[in-house]
Amino acid sequence: MPVQPSLPLVVANWKMNLSQAESVLLARALRRTYVADKMVTRLELVLCPSFPALAGVATALKGSGIKLGAQDVFWKTAGPYTGEVSPEVLKELGVTYVLVGHSERRQYLGETDAMVQQKVLAALAAGLTPVLCVGETYSERTSGRREIVIAQEVRTGLSGASLAAGQRVVIAYEPVWVIGSGQAVPPSEAQQASRVVRETLLELLPASELSNTAVLYGGSVDPSNITSYVQESKLQGVLVGGASLEAKRFISLLKRFI
Ligand code: 13P
Repeated sequence: MPVQPSLPLVVANWKMNLSQAESVLLARALRRTYVADKMVTRLELVLCPSFPALAGVATALKGSGIKLGAQDVFWKTAGPYTGEVSPEVLKELGVTYVLVGHSERRQYLGETDAMVQQKVLAALAAGLTPVLCVGETYSERTSGRREIVIAQEVRTGLSGASLAAGQRVVIAYEPVWVIGSGQAVPPSEAQQASRVVRETLLELLPASELSNTAVLYGGSVDPSNITSYVQESKLQGVLVGGASLEAKRFISLLKRFI
């Protein structure tokens, strides 16, 4: 069953940038504008604070229509896994989306494609929507392996996945080398990457489930370039880091949709 209707999806990844208090204040400011401008009819907004801020941000967002996401998840439901957080606990906190396989986790924490796959499967099994992050490094790009890497990360990450009725999976294409650089890739490149993602999805999911997938672009998205990704490149949305950390700047990005 297709998930309808599908509005542009904006996912904010706050990474490890904000304190609990700052996260709650930012969530409250975004909530005020989102509700006042009835943005819920124009875009789907997901905020991904750090784990300790999830509860406070959940309270701040209650009843607003803004959704809560986590930046990571573990693949077991409970047990002796020091420092990890289960899908069940995230759900208990009101989380509905979860980032999986972000390049910073792959790079700094040794997260492998196999671990990413387990996390995607666990998220889906718990009824959470995974946002699978894929993208090439600079050296992979310069050696002409961009499309191979994208397809490989999608293929491994989603291997064995199946969607329950009404369930969705999101793939975020984030070229690793432009993250935080202020220099986004041209919309045509994001569109080309999205085509590779979609072609790979065709191998993995039944055709009837493809309408329940969304492809996002991430990497130095800001208020000046957002529309080129969502309108010109025909992507289903964006994953925003730095430009989502300050209320005024993020609101000006969101207002491009209304
Ligand atoms: P920036 O928007 O800061 O480049 O970060 C992108 C990102 O990594 C989002 O997950």
